[in-house]
Amino acid sequence: MSLLELDEVKVHFPVKRGVLFDRTVGHVYAVDGVSLSVTAGETYGLVGESGCGKTTLGRAVLRLTDITSGSVVFDGTDLAQLGDEEMRRSRRRLQMVFQDPLGSLNPRQNIESILSEGMAAHGIGADRAARRARIVEILDRVGLPASALSRYPHEFSGGQRQRIGIARALVLDPDLIICDEPVSALDVSIQAQVINLLEELQESMGLTYLVIAHDLAVVRHISDRIGVMYLGNLVEEAASDALYEEPRHPYTRALMSAVPVPDPEVEATRERILLTGDLPSPASPPPGCRFHTRCPWRQPERCATERPALTDVGGGHKVACHYAAEIADGTLLPRQDQVAPPLVDVAKG
Ligand SMILES: Nc1ncnc2c1ncn2[C@@H]1O[C@H](COP(=O)(O)OP(=O)(O)O)[C@@H](O)[C@H]1O
Ligand SMILES: [Mg+2]
Repeated sequence: MSLLELDEVKVHFPVKRGVLFDRTVGHVYAVDGVSLSVTAGETYGLVGESGCGKTTLGRAVLRLTDITSGSVVFDGTDLAQLGDEEMRRSRRRLQMVFQDPLGSLNPRQNIESILSEGMAAHGIGADRAARRARIVEILDRVGLPASALSRYPHEFSGGQRQRIGIARALVLDPDLIICDEPVSALDVSIQAQVINLLEELQESMGLTYLVIAHDLAVVRHISDRIGVMYLGNLVEEAASDALYEEPRHPYTRALMSAVPVPDPEVEATRERILLTGDLPSPASPPPGCRFHTRCPWRQPERCATERPALTDVGGGHKVACHYAAEIADGTLLPRQDQVAPPLVDVAKG
């Protein structure tokens, strides 16, 4: 059953000019028609370059940002239809863990105060002692001692602070947690620990995750399914293994070819795709396929004029590319200036 269902969600921010910032001169098309669903108990990974609209999408789900059009249905209820009080109650079930744990924890509050704030607001725990008991139990689950209660955010390491951020979500007993770049601010050595913790918690507490990251390596291991975003659009979606073994969209292929392969022989012979040009601004996205200005397989006319729909190419693997089939079977080849030569000779030498 799908717990979260987004249908054609758009978030356009007005660009204001003038002395009073009262003139709208354009829009930033941060999220521009994203449809996806997250099944109860699964982890959905959302990846894409910085600025492609991932955080905006996450905030739109929690209604921290208004959506321009489309719908967000959580557990059968269209969130836009809820009044403020009903939305406040739903918010307990939808929590967010942020990228920067220090920035999202008030430095002047101790850990008990930070964690009990939301509990008190949602009427969890009869009194202070009951709330404290629950906090201690959750701290233990995220690997922190009860002595953390009276300490302050700056007294903890980055990894510990992210555990506190996770605990703050967990004390509210949520169903869905949106993890926005949960490990991007952490040392690589700590990243795996936090990812493993998220997995353990999911299993023991029956959580559903939407994990946002700019780094494919971060979501690969933890995600059941992955969606790839480019300039406000979802360009590919597939089961995690299928996406890695057989990326179908040119953008996904390019992202994948930038990730080193551990096997030196494979690394030396595999295709490496180069993206030309800069990432266009979401305030003036290219017409047609958003990716055509950088795509090694772009074809005249169609790619620049017609927007490809996200289409199932078999087994739930969806791709938004007019030429996905021709690229996959090799009848359409990439432009030679956008393919790096294999490293074979270098490896042998
Ligand atoms: N409140 C806002 N007002 C105007 N533009 C915004 C706002 N929030 C985000 N943006 C713009 O929307 C685009 C997508 O941003 P964001 O969702 O943060 O991307 P990501 O999380 O993928 O890096 C960016 O161009 C960003 O500058
Ligand atoms: Mg972001």
